[in-house]
Amino acid sequence: MSTVSAAKSGTFKIGGDIGVTRLGFGAMRITGPGIWGEPQDRAEVLRTLRRVPEIGVNFIDTADSYGPDVSEQLIREALAPYKGLLIATKGGLTRTGPNVWAPVGRPEYLIQQAHKSLRNLGVKQIGLWQLHRIDPKVPRDEQFGAIKQLLNDGVIAHAGLSEVSVADIEAASKVFKVATVQNRYNLVDRGSEAVLDYCETHGIGFIPWYPLAAGNLAKPGSLLDTIAKKHKAAPSQIALAWVLKRSKVMLPIPGTSKVKHLEENVAAADIVLTDDEFAALDREGKAAAAKVA
Ligand SMILES: NC(=O)c1ccc[n+]([C@@H]2O[C@H](COP(=O)([O-])OP(=O)(O)OC[C@H]3O[C@@H](n4cnc5c(N)ncnc54)[C@H](OP(=O)(O)O)[C@@H]3O)[C@@H](O)[C@H]2O)c1
Repeated sequence: MSTVSAAKSGTFKIGGDIGVTRLGFGAMRITGPGIWGEPQDRAEVLRTLRRVPEIGVNFIDTADSYGPDVSEQLIREALAPYKGLLIATKGGLTRTGPNVWAPVGRPEYLIQQAHKSLRNLGVKQIGLWQLHRIDPKVPRDEQFGAIKQLLNDGVIAHAGLSEVSVADIEAASKVFKVATVQNRYNLVDRGSEAVLDYCETHGIGFIPWYPLAAGNLAKPGSLLDTIAKKHKAAPSQIALAWVLKRSKVMLPIPGTSKVKHLEENVAAADIVLTDDEFAALDREGKAAAAKVA
């Protein structure tokens, strides 16, 4: 019996109806280097994916472009028929090689990709589909219109956006109900504070990607290091515990290809930071972010 469980991170209802445990899993790192092709250790990736629900995580984030296709296909191999799991995917980025990502937001392309994700994941409907990037070459309302069509046709149950501003969310909300927003956010990367606050006010799930980062804050002898030692935890676990405490709409999706790292990340759900620890880390994180900006 495992003692590690995501349950203590609490729950959130995506789109007001799909309940998930707040601490999720990001499936970008389960492909080959450069998020391209098959993973180097396929057996360990499948073990990692199968361990995800065993330790109480029921929200997995992937994308058609991870691999491409490889991440969705591995998730299907390991976890279909997904009893009690929400597999959220994304579309709108194309891949022409390792580490190369180019947005394509033509409506017919977005609709095609959502149908391809249905097939790759082996589902009749995608619970949450997110526009990976708004393509600057295509009017954003055309992209939002494609999402509305996917919702109307029942291809997807809920829709979200990624790497967007408050103005983008407001424009999209005129066309469809925005269930989630996925922006880069962590203790030392605070460029999306206004978006997070907007999401909190409007009951939109905020999915911070790259949530484990702590940058220079994790140096030996630092405040973060001291707090980590007090909790007998790794600095990355404290960074994750801080992200979870920051907002009730926060749904972090730390990603890994290894069982050991998955278990370590999920164990962060057990860490309860005091309000003073949270505030002190907040101050240092903001100061570090301001130096970089
Ligand atoms: N919307 C977007 O544009 C966007 C962009 C990027 C990512 N995402 C999503 O967000 C998820 C998370 O983002 P991310 O992968 O960039 O950041 P992350 O989860 O904060 O960090 C992942 C990196 O940390 C390593 N790692 C994970 N757990 C660890 C541990 N306990 N100890 C040591 N190293 C550890 C992983 O390597 P190992 O495999 O070796 O553990 C990997 O290199 C992705 O999986 C993806 O679903 C979305």
